[in-house]
Amino acid sequence: GDLENLQRRPPVVTIMGHVDHGKTTLLDSIRKTKVAQGEAGGITQHIGAYHVDVEHNGETQQVVFLDTPGHEAFTAMRARGARVTDIAILVVAADDGVRPQTIEAISHAKAAEVPIVVAINKVDKEEAQPDRVKQELTEYGLVAEEWGGDTIMVPVSALTGENLDTLLEMILLVSEVEDLYANPDRPAKGTVIEAHLDKAKGPVATLLIQNGTLRVGDILVAGSVFGKVRAMVDDRGKRVEEGKPSFAVEVLGLSDVPAAGDEFDVYLDEKEARAIASNRTDQQRLSRLQQAMSSRRV
Ligand code: GTP
Ligand code: MG
Ligand code: NA
Repeated sequence: GDLENLQRRPPVVTIMGHVDHGKTTLLDSIRKTKVAQGEAGGITQHIGAYHVDVEHNGETQQVVFLDTPGHEAFTAMRARGARVTDIAILVVAADDGVRPQTIEAISHAKAAEVPIVVAINKVDKEEAQPDRVKQELTEYGLVAEEWGGDTIMVPVSALTGENLDTLLEMILLVSEVEDLYANPDRPAKGTVIEAHLDKAKGPVATLLIQNGTLRVGDILVAGSVFGKVRAMVDDRGKRVEEGKPSFAVEVLGLSDVPAAGDEFDVYLDEKEARAIASNRTDQQRLSRLQQAMSSRRV
């Protein structure tokens, strides 16, 4: 409508791939090169999401990476036909090639219609065979640009940092052709990336804000859980008053622990929010009861 204030938002990126192909090392390496030295050592909080600044076409742009816990939310969202990520980085080790979880990751990304950028990793190794990886990927419909296809494949070394800048630029390139817009003026909505019960803090949830701005004091419903945002921290463990579209924040103040993949919405009316949350809780109880009864009948 006329109140829409659509602005470009950073791409949200998930790193996927087979066990030990280098997902964590890649993310660590990107963080270390992109987060200022002093701050890098200071990262104690782990919220499962990282915001990095990338120089692109002479300006600084941001990219949000979801760490492995993002996979849970990714899978949960997929089951509901929604999506949390804008781009999937598929990490394939050049000394190992396409493996079962590589194939699984490809089908996840395809089902969610998320564009894939391939990072052919570990090219520093003597046994690396990047062309073999490209060959194997053609069997799954991913054909490298240089082979006449339309999939961007970047040979990288997460260990030495080789070509990581190119990978980041390719991420921004792909994000440019996607319509990544959000309205920071509306109440926030998004997805629970991870959540747990902290003995001291109570329920703690990492929320990916997909639209709107989330503020301390906001009233929200996450899945069937009611909450009033008591405090928020960003990916570096720093307390913040608000979170913008595409950013992930850790939130305190929920009445219970929501599930990864649950959607959340901010409500202006506390009564309405409480009613919605308790309604959903009732529905969950009902369907659990129905399931229990039907399994007893079998
Ligand atoms: P899971 O989370 O267990 O699935 O593994 P992962 O994909 O996160 O792999 P991880 O980053 O833990 O790396 C696995 C091993 O590969 C580690 O010993 C890394 O040091 C090594 N490794 C990762 N990237 C590179 C690379 O570019 N070159 C070399 N030589 N080794 C790498
Ligand atoms: Mg890992
Ligand atoms: Na509830």
